[in-house]
Amino acid sequence: MCGIVGYVGPQDAAPILLEGLGRLEYRGYDSAGVALSSKGALKVRKVSGRVADLAAELPARFKGSPGIGHTRWATHGEPNEVNAHPQLDAAGRIAVVHNGIIENADELRAKLTADGVEFVSQTDTEVVAHLVAAAFAAGAGDLEQAVRQALRQVVGAYGLAVLDAEYPDRIVIARNGSPVLLGVGEKEMFVASDVAALIGYTRQVVYLDDGELATITAGGYRTYTLDDRSTAKSPSTIDWDVVGAEIGDHAHYLIKEIQEQPRTIERALKGRIDERFETAHLGGLNLSVREAREVKRVKILGCGSACYAGELGAQLIEDLARVPASAEAASEFRYRNPVVEPDTLYVAVSQSGETIDTLAAVQELQRKGGRVIGIVNVVGSTIARQVDGGIYLHAGPEMSVAATKSFTSTVAAFALLALHLGRMRDLSPEQGRRIIAGLTALPGQITEIIERSEMIAGVAAEIAQSRSVMFVGRRRGWPVAREGAQKLKEISYVHAEAYPSAELKHGPLALISPEMPTVAIVPDDDLLDKNTSTLSEIKARKGPVIAVAHRELPAELADRTLVIPKNEPELDPILMSIPLQILAYHAAVVLERDVDKPRNLAKSVTVE
Ligand code: G6P
Repeated sequence: MCGIVGYVGPQDAAPILLEGLGRLEYRGYDSAGVALSSKGALKVRKVSGRVADLAAELPARFKGSPGIGHTRWATHGEPNEVNAHPQLDAAGRIAVVHNGIIENADELRAKLTADGVEFVSQTDTEVVAHLVAAAFAAGAGDLEQAVRQALRQVVGAYGLAVLDAEYPDRIVIARNGSPVLLGVGEKEMFVASDVAALIGYTRQVVYLDDGELATITAGGYRTYTLDDRSTAKSPSTIDWDVVGAEIGDHAHYLIKEIQEQPRTIERALKGRIDERFETAHLGGLNLSVREAREVKRVKILGCGSACYAGELGAQLIEDLARVPASAEAASEFRYRNPVVEPDTLYVAVSQSGETIDTLAAVQELQRKGGRVIGIVNVVGSTIARQVDGGIYLHAGPEMSVAATKSFTSTVAAFALLALHLGRMRDLSPEQGRRIIAGLTALPGQITEIIERSEMIAGVAAEIAQSRSVMFVGRRRGWPVAREGAQKLKEISYVHAEAYPSAELKHGPLALISPEMPTVAIVPDDDLLDKNTSTLSEIKARKGPVIAVAHRELPAELADRTLVIPKNEPELDPILMSIPLQILAYHAAVVLERDVDKPRNLAKSVTVE
């Protein structure tokens, strides 16, 4: 969603802001803008459209520092140039970029209007610019004081950066519920809503907490609270390499990230397998053996693909640790006044670590005394810092909106957690060894699947012509089917539905016809007969079938089989998801979709 970037230092800010905004594009946005401080005045440019359009708009003399930039995802007011950020006060002295939603914006707007302020945009953000100006008019002594006074009147979520023409040496930043972090350079400082914007400039970052403000100047930073108490913050180092976020020779980030999976699974497993005791080492869980033994239930929460990965995680935990486990959309959980039990272990799953519904579920749980661990990719993200312990995926930056490598790494992380919990209970050393061997085999097997991409692309070209596609699976195949349907619909816009195979006859079988292909997950396991009889039901209604299976299925059962290597039944879902990612990718390419940035979607959903 919205992105913030800012720079203060000896260089011209504009190129740095544009590059940073370019790196935030993946989050999804509909307009963009920048403001610079130059010779005691502000220069501002905004466009409705892409960062490239903004870059094309900037005149050669658009120079200066400090500067702030923004990519906006419209919430208040349509996506146009006027509503794009930065938003200014009436005198054009104060510029504000803002992520989040100001809940009492209408009330503040009415008050300011009554005081004679004329609003130009429909945004909630413009309120902040006017409030800062009003604070100066009321006698605020400096920019920090003016921002603090303004924010004391604001209710809602914000991550924001404020530039003032009268203070050309600094940017003031504030956070409440929407992430912002500082980047520490050599005689220069940065601000961004996402580390991705800072890649290539610095690895030293300072994460702000809710209720915290910061002032950055070329010489450094200072952090403090709304009532001006200093807070001590030291920088942490980000370990992502630049390569991880570069598209290289790939046509899209999505295919790059699909192809990275042998390496990302290796990274998820690295240093965590204990061959000697046939278990997993998870140092960050902060859970003693005794505490882990006392866990009676596991409840997993996440949104979108993170939730589907959690459904596979729940099955892994039940299978290997024999602890009852379930997964639920974090958004549903948080709104139904959940019963929080002391002997339940709660697991929050989030690639970005910023999804608002997942974060709110974590906070609700912690308010009620629940113990929450996180499975998160982005190091230092809000959820990662909020939880009581957890597992980092170490999958590197995931730039494409559709989750791929984070999905498979999350399932691998759950396999480690299940192994860890299982070996403390009744999972035998032999069984532990079997799972470890399976995990270790995954990278090579994923490579084999990726090598078959061309065949899958052929099937994708056929699928792309359909109006609607059914995905079915049983047991572990069911979350795989859900994730497969999600991938197809979100990036190719071909309608897709997922059903548990046995549910077909309770309704959706009515849809099956030669026009509606079914993608079926058919592992070679104890349910093979059940699965093949589902295929017969579909074929009897002349529905085309594409099977993901361990061996080629006969023509009377499937028109096409995407054959994948066999691992252990508990781990097969990781492998079965990969052809479905490749299928969705190629369908989207055939249909000439905006693969990495599908319409209406954002990578991290930080507002409700
Ligand atoms: C968005 C993304 C999905 C992702 C979901 C959860 O909807 O488009 O790909 O699965 O958010 O994101 P998270 O960062 O919490 O895993």
